Amino acid sequence: MFKHLHMTLAVISVLLFTIRFIWTLIDSQQLSKKWVKITPHIIDTLLLVLGIVMAVKLAINPLEQLWLGEKILAVIAYIFTGYYTLKLARNRMLQVIGFLGSIGWIMLVFRIAMTKENIIF
Ligand code: HEM
Repeated sequence: MFKHLHMTLAVISVLLFTIRFIWTLIDSQQLSKKWVKITPHIIDTLLLVLGIVMAVKLAINPLEQLWLGEKILAVIAYIFTGYYTLKLARNRMLQVIGFLGSIGWIMLVFRIAMTKENIIF
């Protein structure tokens, strides 16, 4: 049950990030709506908490099972590039580059999640 909720939240997280990216590109007023500011944080927090709960329950140590260590680092990179894309990037080109970078990291996260194989380490 935890795993399915975790996977559903992961998909919602990427969808919300993508729609916020599109709204950023077109300077949409939607971005100032309260739910748009709050919901992604709730979804992302739940996603991370469930991941940690499962890792603890399944006794997976990220320093021993390197796929999890690599997945956590890729998640951190996704969070940073996502923050850059939505908040720091100063023009459309940088926003697009930031978005493509974030999508690259999240694809790595999904790949590691499905295969449980570390790629970089
Ligand atoms: C953006 C963030 C994340 C995404 C997109 C994501 C995605 C996924 C997906 C798709 C699965 C299911 C894989 C399968 O079919 O077996 C999964 C499982 C799992 N995830 Fe995540 N995850 C994320 C963050 C995290 C974090 C931060 C942790 C831990 C700190 C974590 C720990 C786990 C664990 C322990 C499993 C279950 C592995 C198993 O069944 O043996 N995830 N994740």
